[in-house]
Amino acid sequence: MEITIKPVERIEGQTRVPGDKSISHRALLFSSLTEDTVEIENLLEAEDTLSTLNCLRELGVEYEGDGKKLKVKGKGLRGFEEPDNVLNAGNSGTTARLLAGLLAGQPFHSTLTGDGSLRRRPMNRVTEPLKQMGASINGRNNGELLPLSIRGYDLLPINYTVPVASSQVKSALLIAALYSRGTSEIIDLYNTRDHTERALRYLGARIEKMGRCHIILKSPVKLKGDRFRIPGDISEAAFLIVAAALAPRGELYIEDVGINPSRTGILEVLERMGADISILNEREYNYEPVADLLVKGGRNLKGTEIAGEMIPRVIDEIPVLAVAALFAEGDTVIKGAAELRVKKTDRLKCISLELQKMGALVEELPDGLVIKGGAKLSGARCESHGDHRIAMALATAALFAESESVINGVEAVKTSFPGFFDIMSRLAS
Ligand code: S3P
Repeated sequence: MEITIKPVERIEGQTRVPGDKSISHRALLFSSLTEDTVEIENLLEAEDTLSTLNCLRELGVEYEGDGKKLKVKGKGLRGFEEPDNVLNAGNSGTTARLLAGLLAGQPFHSTLTGDGSLRRRPMNRVTEPLKQMGASINGRNNGELLPLSIRGYDLLPINYTVPVASSQVKSALLIAALYSRGTSEIIDLYNTRDHTERALRYLGARIEKMGRCHIILKSPVKLKGDRFRIPGDISEAAFLIVAAALAPRGELYIEDVGINPSRTGILEVLERMGADISILNEREYNYEPVADLLVKGGRNLKGTEIAGEMIPRVIDEIPVLAVAALFAEGDTVIKGAAELRVKKTDRLKCISLELQKMGALVEELPDGLVIKGGAKLSGARCESHGDHRIAMALATAALFAESESVINGVEAVKTSFPGFFDIMSRLAS
């Protein structure tokens, strides 16, 4: 499916964005681990979270309701059932990796697979430490690639430094650690998003953080809870925020956005570039900070450097930050982001290739991008490569090109933000 995007001058109005994808996966999974019925509000209704829900259903989890509001009947840690079919994580890396942690603790056999893109993504980062904990896991290329065949067991606690910047790996190990007896210690050197730690603490797990990145989890423990309220996803809001910041005119108010500090790099980088963003009405839902955001257009942005500790805090926003950088004065350099090559697509390659079609000067580095600012983009025919974040970043760039563009493969946005084009066309003029 393709969409035509015309240049605009103003982004104006008020909106909400879908529930946070990372928190939605965790709310579904951790609600299943309780012995209670947990009500989830503002769940992300999109393909990735549906993959998690479908896999949990195959494991015997029951729920009521549909769409954004669900009641999940928890199974407790030990109540899951052996699935009678292959579990399919679809396009969702978070589903596959978090579920691998859960399956590693189950006393039955299961097989986990995904779509063509997910079957190419590295799984050894999670299978290796899970094997160290005592799970039996086989997969293509020595456990590196899906499909994985997992036979769980009573696991041993783990003491592990996660060698890559991955919240999914950290989360899988914390879930598996719930199935061990004793104290697990995980070092998250890169300070990746901490939604798992917050959700586990909210449900009563014995989990603490020491210093900057040392997580300690004591098990066993019974998880208890009755409600999750999911904030809007800052990574989806990012496309609207960049559009509003780049628009010559207008003000955009986005209600109810998660502002967990491990995710707010987008706001800090844009402010450093000169954008006008206010964070209003700060509050908290289930230990997750939330606020409303006001973004004013018409500011001149300047180029910046994005590297080091900032990278995990903007990892999903780099394609759209590259778009912001195109319209800034001066160059922007992004370094230390090689992880982007193993996301749903190789995002460094895809975003530079596609923006170049619009006439952008973007150079690909092994671990980043150099973006020449001050671009005058021409409308072009671009391709999403089946990646929702590439589709939405290209659509954002196309709003400020000199003529109309066509983006092909826009059905990919169903992964995380099915209403994206409707919201954008309501706000843009
Ligand atoms: C996610 C973690 C990040 C992120 C992804 C969601 C999560 O992936 O890119 O969109 O929910 O834990 P990695 O753990 O691979 O960095």
